[in-house]
Amino acid sequence: MRMQLAGALAVVAVAAAAVVWRLHSAPSHWQVVDRYCTGCHNETDVAGGLAFDDLDRSNVAANPAVWEAVVRKLRTGLMPPKGEPRPDRGVLERMARELEHGLDGLPLAPLIPAPSRSHA
Ligand code: HEC
Repeated sequence: MRMQLAGALAVVAVAAAAVVWRLHSAPSHWQVVDRYCTGCHNETDVAGGLAFDDLDRSNVAANPAVWEAVVRKLRTGLMPPKGEPRPDRGVLERMARELEHGLDGLPLAPLIPAPSRSHA
């Protein structure tokens, strides 16, 4: 019994540590964008017709076409352009994955309507 409890606590501790690790180590894509992209892609220098400072910061799914284009540029290594400062390949890859998660979170119409709880 005691061993089981200890095991369960260890699992919880590892899970919590993983969450904390993620929060600290996963670069928010905005940190990368602000540092490496907005210098060219802003309201005054709209490079490639793209200004990141116009976008909704809290919701990737609000501008799916833009972020899909960003994922492509990150995966192909085309942005930031050659010769410009860029973070590690791993950071760009994580950023692409983070954006894909946000894009996958696009609200979809429910196939089965949620049961009404009003009479519960
Ligand atoms: C030195 C300036 C510069 C920096 C820094 C830069 N870009 Fe660009 N970007 C451009 C230019 C110029 C174009 C248009 C030509 C092209 O597509 O290569 C462009 C095009 C793009 C496009 C394609 C737009 C479209 O709809 O066709 C995307 C997406 C993009 N950049 C994303 C980024 C991201 C993400 C970063 C940062 C990681 C970044 N860029 C950093 C100059 C820059």
